[in-house]
Amino acid sequence: MPDYLELDPTTAERRQVYRMLVGSVVPRPIGWASTVSNQGRTNLAPFSFFTVVCVVPPMISLTIARNPNGSEKHTLKNVRQTGEFCFNVVTEPVWKEMVDSANGFPEEDSEFDETGLTPLPSVKIKPPRVKEVPIHFECRLHQVIELGPNRHPLVIGEVVLMHVDQACMTDGYIDMRKLHPIGRLNGFFYSTIGEIFERKFDDGQPR
Ligand SMILES: Cc1cc2nc3c(=O)[nH]c(=O)nc-3n(C[C@H](O)[C@H](O)[C@H](O)COP(=O)(O)O)c2cc1C
Repeated sequence: MPDYLELDPTTAERRQVYRMLVGSVVPRPIGWASTVSNQGRTNLAPFSFFTVVCVVPPMISLTIARNPNGSEKHTLKNVRQTGEFCFNVVTEPVWKEMVDSANGFPEEDSEFDETGLTPLPSVKIKPPRVKEVPIHFECRLHQVIELGPNRHPLVIGEVVLMHVDQACMTDGYIDMRKLHPIGRLNGFFYSTIGEIFERKFDDGQPR
């Protein structure tokens, strides 16, 4: 019989609950959210509590924790102010810039300047895309749902325009061997995609 650690989230330390969550839901995709403030300052930050939530219309979600003092991160402030953000897929060549962009820069500094990444104009929204990565989704805010007693914000955005560099596609599919996505593990660890397996369903049709 395995020696299970049993944790009741209602009584366990919050830090321990967090450790079990981020060590179990792995690897997590990393959404690099670019935003602009009302004053026109650009901001860029990575989020791994990130996923796709709807197809028609396409929607993605991020949860943006509050700062320890309860204030909102710059990304969330900007999304609330402007109703827009761009999701950029983080790929291996820029994984270190991605980590660096999560440092706590002052609100008046842009992570584009701090990391040397290139802002590329979007088409339907003001936040720029990250030129160094091949996939950008232009998003408009659909809803912010505040979860639990700390009002943990779950941000849902509708994808209004998708940009996919065809250099990372094969036969109409995004090709993982060409995309080189990375994932977040726990602690300070990240991963590349590793070995890829294929096993078809009996009728050969996708599900
Ligand atoms: C790989 C990675 C994933 C992260 N995921 C999240 C996340 O899902 N939610 C969150 O609130 N912060 C997350 N962070 C921390 C934010 O990126 C960090 O707090 C950032 O400074 C916020 O920037 P902002 O204040 O400009 O919005 C993550 C950091 C890294 C490096």
